[in-house]
Amino acid sequence: MAEISFQAITKQFGSSTKPSVDAVTFTVPSDTTCMFVGKSGAGKTTLLRMVNRLIEPTSGKIVIAGANVLEEDPIELRRHIGYVIQQVGLFPHMTVAENIRVTAEVTGGWKKSRLDARVDELLDLVGLPPSEYRRRFPRELSGGQQQRVGLARALTTDPMILLMDEPFGALDAITRAQMQDELLRIQSNVRKTILFVTHDLEEALKLGDLIAVMHQGKLEQLGAPVDLLTHPVNDMVARLVGSDNILRELQYLTAATAATAGARGRFAPGEALPGCPRDASLLSAMLKLFETGAPALVLESPGAGVGGGAGGGSGASGGGGGAAGDYITLASIISTLMKGRSREGWPESATLAASGADSGNSGNSGNGGNGGKGADGLALAKA
Ligand SMILES: Nc1ncnc2c1ncn2[C@@H]1O[C@H](COP(=O)(O)OP(=O)(O)O)[C@@H](O)[C@H]1O
Ligand SMILES: [Mg+2]
Repeated sequence: MAEISFQAITKQFGSSTKPSVDAVTFTVPSDTTCMFVGKSGAGKTTLLRMVNRLIEPTSGKIVIAGANVLEEDPIELRRHIGYVIQQVGLFPHMTVAENIRVTAEVTGGWKKSRLDARVDELLDLVGLPPSEYRRRFPRELSGGQQQRVGLARALTTDPMILLMDEPFGALDAITRAQMQDELLRIQSNVRKTILFVTHDLEEALKLGDLIAVMHQGKLEQLGAPVDLLTHPVNDMVARLVGSDNILRELQYLTAATAATAGARGRFAPGEALPGCPRDASLLSAMLKLFETGAPALVLESPGAGVGGGAGGGSGASGGGGGAAGDYITLASIISTLMKGRSREGWPESATLAASGADSGNSGNSGNGGNGGKGADGLALAKA
């Protein structure tokens, strides 16, 4: 359990006239992944490196699991904080196994036999079969494999926290995507609090539970990816996350986001409709509607049956006859996409028309199938 709380944290380097990180305050809940995004020079790396005290703050506090990091012994602190950077920094004359154990050996407290087992465990975890890779040297590895070793090394002491500074930035697109999937898999196994700097927005949307947008040393917005896409606080954030990018929304918003009760009554009871998982992307739902020519898809929750709770309360609850929000239609998808755009000057009438098209037949669902759905009700497609 390691919640990380930044409290008016500030860094002004001696040589500069304004702070590189300027009174930044926010909290990253335990076991979540927070992505730092923003232009080059925004202060992301500086913010990250103050967590393990590679950079000492000018003022403010960073509190991890209740303890102020400035009151910790820096060496002891780093035992609990893994650190992964783009330049992996493996020692060329040491084998993979030696590179992985070196942190644990330096920080001490590990028995040799326990460390041997730990190295193999970690190689397995990062997808490098130990018998094949344990004795290799870094020069005998691809860039992606070196980065895997770097990740294994950061996990050796089983830290509660991982700091990652553009770790996949130097990898080709395919390897980068594999490493991202690997990190998601590892995170679902071992649960760390991860702070991850990236300039790749797709990476931020894919990996982040939270995204912190930095701009000129200040925290511009903190939110779930879906909040940033649908409710950017200003034009700078909107441009950065590409809130105007419909394809991106189709890829990253879930089918549950467009759940509607309004489709009921449009087709005969008992008419067989194709199903669609609630956590599928809007894009795949839309393609399925096109492919099947069906008027609607039935949203299905994994394991919970149709209309189960996985939608996180996204359905309007006003419907009198059974669970609301259990269908998805082209109109409900369009209405969802329009909603995120109303702040950018879409004509209000167009938005109303789109929701109206869907709520028209629902009769008893009050303010329409999609009505009253805030950002909280939205969910992000991770598939
Ligand atoms: N050691 C340093 N000395 C002086 N200025 C620095 C130092 N490190 C970073 N900076 C400045 O702080 C600002 C933020 O840098 P950084 O945190 O590396 O940004 P980012 O990681 O977002 O690209 C930049 O203007 C950079 O020039
Ligand atoms: Mg940086």
